Amino acid sequence: MSPLASDVQVAVIGAGAMGAGIAQVAAQAGHPVKMYDNRPGAAAQAVAGIDRQLTRLVEKGKLQAAEHEMIRLRLSPVDTLEALADAGLVIEAIVENLQVKQTLLRQIEALCADDCILASNTSSLSITSLAAGLARPQQVVGMHFFNPAPLMALVEVVSGLATEPAVASCIYATAQAWGKQPVHTRSTPGFIVNRVARPFYAESLRLLQEGAADCASLDALLRDAGGFRMGAFELTDLIGHDVNYAVTCSVFDAFYGDFRFQPSLVQKELVDAGRLGRKTGQGFYSYAEGAERPTPAELCSLTSAEACVIEGHLGVMQPLVERLSLNGIAVTRRAGSGVILVGDATLALSDGRLASQRAREDGLRNLVLLDLALDYSTATRIAISWSADITENARDHAVALLQRAGLKVTAVADLPGLVVLRTVAMIANEAADAVLQGVGSAADIDLAMRAGVNYPCGPLAWAGNIGIAHTLRVLDNLQRSYGESRYRPSLLLRRCEATGGTLHD
Ligand code: NAI
Repeated sequence: MSPLASDVQVAVIGAGAMGAGIAQVAAQAGHPVKMYDNRPGAAAQAVAGIDRQLTRLVEKGKLQAAEHEMIRLRLSPVDTLEALADAGLVIEAIVENLQVKQTLLRQIEALCADDCILASNTSSLSITSLAAGLARPQQVVGMHFFNPAPLMALVEVVSGLATEPAVASCIYATAQAWGKQPVHTRSTPGFIVNRVARPFYAESLRLLQEGAADCASLDALLRDAGGFRMGAFELTDLIGHDVNYAVTCSVFDAFYGDFRFQPSLVQKELVDAGRLGRKTGQGFYSYAEGAERPTPAELCSLTSAEACVIEGHLGVMQPLVERLSLNGIAVTRRAGSGVILVGDATLALSDGRLASQRAREDGLRNLVLLDLALDYSTATRIAISWSADITENARDHAVALLQRAGLKVTAVADLPGLVVLRTVAMIANEAADAVLQGVGSAADIDLAMRAGVNYPCGPLAWAGNIGIAHTLRVLDNLQRSYGESRYRPSLLLRRCEATGGTLHD
């Protein structure tokens, strides 16, 4: 399917943060763009704001002055909806309210040509509902940009029940022509990104609630071991707890209270207190002038580890073996069940059981569980937890070994799945369910999470790296530990494990 020709008139309704960004993207791609807002003067202000953005790009040498001039000429604020009648594509980015958006779409539909595409930038409303009651619901499609639209690559192209496939394909191709990375998705709660990302916040909030570690340590683990740009607490402080909590509540309600999406009392309390994050100067962290950011906890061993034994294959942790050798540790290999032995300690990747439970069930003494790292050869930090029977000496040996390999070691309480492993397993689980339910293809879901929220790896590919069987084991054990449907594994993971297939089949 071809994109809309670049001379097709685009209309953007709503000249707030998103509308302005979208208008800039469309104008930069060569379209004449009209902007309308029902707040007098807002459209003109937005056009002036885009002009300032473009001037900055010219100053930085990222845009030619002549090109800037051309883009500026393509943008025009208008004062009436009627002025948008010649648009071939209308993108609405007005207030997030179903009735208000439906009313607007009815007005626009009556004004524009029959083949005009009516796109909504809604992040949470159903495209099916938005289109209901229109004369041409097949022309309605979601075109969900991410903030800031000129910088974020992802566009979710959302099809409602009535959306004509050719319309969705045309918007997909148009988003590509605008330099974006589109993905197809169906109109289901949260679409792809706002659904699959829920566990990223939820698991940190739960770990905090259950006393796993402090915010700074949990954030540092997601960054330094998980490879995420930010931890969940610093990110929600940035997004705003009111906004993040509202999205969680809306997805939770839309799934009829499925406990997978249960909001957190910890976050609700921040919202109740008005501690909304950076914008109010206080969230999980303080943003007051001169406030110091707490430092993540780190264990230090004064002993030195010189040698260790690797029993069997360490699975996703295998790159650690080379890292240990490179750091001067004498590594002996022998057959076994995938553990590292140092001094009296046994180190193993978590499988979602408590360390104390696994030590007892598997007859292991002085067990130290390691968390997941995105890449064990480059991670700078790792979380550990240990069984209750551990001796100080054994724990010290484990810390010394990891330190010698160049890792900062952060202790977390004995909770199932530690931090990164549990978070990634739950994100992958949600992604797998989204594939199972036809919300998007595995490739699109992985792409959406990388391009929309900067995940270092697509969650389904990540589950493949961990191993489907291990990911499933972690989830099964989490579910067993908590006895909650929140941790129930997706049928798709179970099917893949049973058939030996991959999540991208
Ligand atoms: P905003 O509040 O900055 O801008 C909304 C604009 O729409 C305002 O200028 C307002 O005057 C105008 N408006 C309201 N009702 C109108 C109407 N009936 N006719 C014409 N103009 C009207 O909001 P923002 O953040 O730009 O969001 C807009 C839409 O984009 C919402 O649907 C939101 O859910 C969605 N969205 C927001 C993202 C974000 O991070 N802010 C990200 C992705 C989507």
